[in-house]
Amino acid sequence: MTTYNHLIITIRNASSAFVFFYILAFSLCVSSRPATFLQDFRVTWSDTHIRQIDGGRAIQLILDRNSGCGFASKSKYLFGRVSMKIKLIPGDSAGTVTAFYMNSDTDAVRDELDFEFLGNRTGQPYTVQTNIYVHGKGDREQRVNLWFDPAADFHTYSIFWNHNQIRFYIDDVPIRVYKNNEARGIPYPKLQPMGVYSTLWEADDWATRGGLEKIDWSKSPFYAYYRDFDIEGCPVPGPANCVSNPANWWEGANYKALSAIEARRYRWVRVNHMIYDYCTDKTRYPVTPPECVAGI
Ligand SMILES: *[C@@H]1O[C@H](CO)[C@@H](O)[C@H](O)[C@H]1NC(C)=O
Repeated sequence: MTTYNHLIITIRNASSAFVFFYILAFSLCVSSRPATFLQDFRVTWSDTHIRQIDGGRAIQLILDRNSGCGFASKSKYLFGRVSMKIKLIPGDSAGTVTAFYMNSDTDAVRDELDFEFLGNRTGQPYTVQTNIYVHGKGDREQRVNLWFDPAADFHTYSIFWNHNQIRFYIDDVPIRVYKNNEARGIPYPKLQPMGVYSTLWEADDWATRGGLEKIDWSKSPFYAYYRDFDIEGCPVPGPANCVSNPANWWEGANYKALSAIEARRYRWVRVNHMIYDYCTDKTRYPVTPPECVAGI
């Protein structure tokens, strides 16, 4: 959140113990007062298809025959955590894609961290696809089928990013971890700040069962809902020493690796809900990509 970022910046010279307790106290108070949409975001595509509700604390995204829509953060950030609560399109959502991602916007050398929610026919599970681009190279798709109905209720989707790892979370469950293995020559995004983006659009040429299931426009307009926008990170441009400040909570000792509980949840997802992993796709990658060998 903007105020939180300013807070980190203004108190960075105080003693670290003081900073730690102050941030702790402040973040408790922040989490009970989520930011409004317009505080951190702007509409980037079709403002007639994004409606603010609940005094701007939530938004409704609309997809119809005329258009989808999209929004983006006003700032870019280097490291931190971005999370929002999302309620996806209910019922027959086949052919629709809702995306939530971070992107450095630097074309050929872009870094990007993607969540894509692929709709499905009524009663069939939504698929969540994640992908990671580092220095312009992507093709690292993984897919999990959700273990709950993401249209029945709001769930929290977060992207966590520090010097050690990138994690994708659904509620308290890590569904993907990408480690910093630069020491083994594997690229890791750490120099380019990324903006936060979301879009809702039609992609029935590939989204559901590889494009076999087409969007049913008679069910449109389609609605998705977002709330509890929360960005905690170092805004760029901003003070250069924010990124290396050891008081940033996301660089803390507890965030260097998954806790035992998180590791168990992560294993559970991989065993029970993962339906595709580029790491094990021998047709695409006869030689296993190095980041898959270096340790999941
Ligand atoms: C949709 O449902 C089918 C059947 O259960 C499943 O195989 C598939 O992974 C689901 N997701 C997508 C995006 O098609």
